[in-house]
Amino acid sequence: MGALSGKHAMVTGAGSGIGRAVARTFADARAAVTVVDIDAGAAEQVCRRIVDAGGTATAVVADVSEPGGCDRAVAAAVERHGGIDVLCNAAGIIRRGSVTEISEDDWTRVMAVNVDSVFLLGRRVVPLMEAAGGGSIVSIASGWGLKGGDRAAVYCASKAAVVNLTRAMAIDHGPRGIRVNCVCPGDTDTPMLRQEAAQLGAETTAFLAEAAERPLARIGRPEEIAAAVLFLAADTGSFVTGVALPVDGGGIA
Ligand SMILES: NC(=O)c1ccc[n+]([C@@H]2O[C@H](COP(=O)([O-])OP(=O)(O)OC[C@H]3O[C@@H](n4cnc5c(N)ncnc54)[C@H](O)[C@@H]3O)[C@@H](O)[C@H]2O)c1
Repeated sequence: MGALSGKHAMVTGAGSGIGRAVARTFADARAAVTVVDIDAGAAEQVCRRIVDAGGTATAVVADVSEPGGCDRAVAAAVERHGGIDVLCNAAGIIRRGSVTEISEDDWTRVMAVNVDSVFLLGRRVVPLMEAAGGGSIVSIASGWGLKGGDRAAVYCASKAAVVNLTRAMAIDHGPRGIRVNCVCPGDTDTPMLRQEAAQLGAETTAFLAEAAERPLARIGRPEEIAAAVLFLAADTGSFVTGVALPVDGGGIA
């Protein structure tokens, strides 16, 4: 028996990086997984890999910043698997810059992908979880949701919003058996981290070396973030709700 046997899990941003690791970890824990991403090829590849390894997965292509995309993703998951027991919100983007450097479009897009999606999916998934007697939502926030960072104004604002939305949802929906938590990764080796170097015009090797400056003296692996997500999503985290858990090699410390 896996930690998520008999459960259906939806993972957004599951085509790459942390979301992909979460989807695979959930599948290894015996969940049926709905792999949601805006990138059709990436979603299908992750789905195929899970199925080839003996798991159960469905790919759904959707933009989770839009109400229609979220509604379609939830409807497809329900049609295929009957309900949603676990939701992991991992879709996210970054635009590095101070408030004088970023555009209005950057602000709007980052807030829409990183924050609106948690609301838009939450309002559809919570009633399903209530009807099923409970469920678990885990969002991927960031260490920059707990403290500030340089030239990352909208990203910091968006991740702090995810942290406090997590707490608010935990309070509202705990009485109906729904736990809501978030994981706050430190710099983790994914395409996003390399994009940040490009956005700042920084040399990648030097950027990654600076990212490793934390007590454990290295950046994280997506699987290490996924392990924390599984702990919160499964019964191992049965008395844990409303937390923002740093998984960051001691960066916040
Ligand atoms: N990598 C890090 O260092 C780090 C640190 C802290 C937090 N995070 C957070 O972890 C999460 C995953 O990031 P990652 O590093 O794996 O990035 P990534 O770029 O590797 O993966 C992000 C995935 O989200 C998808 N996506 C983007 N916009 C979408 C949309 N509108 N609808 C659906 N899918 C969409 C992308 O196609 C991609 O597959 C993000 O929320 C990010 O902010 C990452």
